[in-house]
Amino acid sequence: MAVKKTKFVVGNWKMSPVSPLEAKKIAISIKKCASVLSKVTTVFAPPSIYLPLISRLCAKGEVKLSSQNVSIFKDGAHTGEVNAEMLKNSGVSFCIVGHSERRALGETDAQVSEKVNLLLENGIRPVICVGEGEHDHQGVYLEFLQNEIKNSLKGVTKKNASDIIIAYEPIWAVGAKEPMQNSDIHETTLFIKKVLTDIFGQEMAFSIPILYGGSVNMRNAKDIVMMGQVDGLLVGRESLNPIGFNSMLKEINSI
Ligand code: PGA
Repeated sequence: MAVKKTKFVVGNWKMSPVSPLEAKKIAISIKKCASVLSKVTTVFAPPSIYLPLISRLCAKGEVKLSSQNVSIFKDGAHTGEVNAEMLKNSGVSFCIVGHSERRALGETDAQVSEKVNLLLENGIRPVICVGEGEHDHQGVYLEFLQNEIKNSLKGVTKKNASDIIIAYEPIWAVGAKEPMQNSDIHETTLFIKKVLTDIFGQEMAFSIPILYGGSVNMRNAKDIVMMGQVDGLLVGRESLNPIGFNSMLKEINSI
């Protein structure tokens, strides 16, 4: 199941676009570009209603499919919920968990960890979002991050940790004008690796991909990956713009 390509670029479409036709157009255009790039794993995270449509379009696996959420319930009578097994059986191989926009609706670290474990049981790679609401220069935010990571990964064993992906998204940089500074991204990424080392040991910790997300666009993507030294990107707005997203994919592929 391990994906061998070197960098991950995950497009989080959030609650867009408004029609299946538009979703199809975006997916086709990006798929065409992504399919010839060997050093990037491109992942679409469309709204769940479009998952079957996009799954059919990407049946050959040129682009991987992600859900934006999963139910906390394994099975049972839960109106409106979609569980991990359904995602697996619908061609989904990644799932964003704990995005700050879901945490703002009340999702807790404990719920995130339950979702992460259900996804791992079903062979789906969780893209676990973590990030502080405020950045200070005294390092208080590091303690927040450490707790958030440890709590969100409860129950994950060294054995299945190789399938997790961490997406570091400082909340203040999501949907903003500018991303975090590259040197700060690098510094925080090192800290995240240290926290992961405490949990899983160094060898495993250093094999877990760490992505950055928050105001990434085609102009800043390559520098963020190179200078921030991350393993990829979680992209919101720019993922709905095929010109920008394709240009980003090519830039990352050229690293
Ligand atoms: P943005 O969103 O790229 O529009 O800032 C990122 C995200 O929410 O994942």
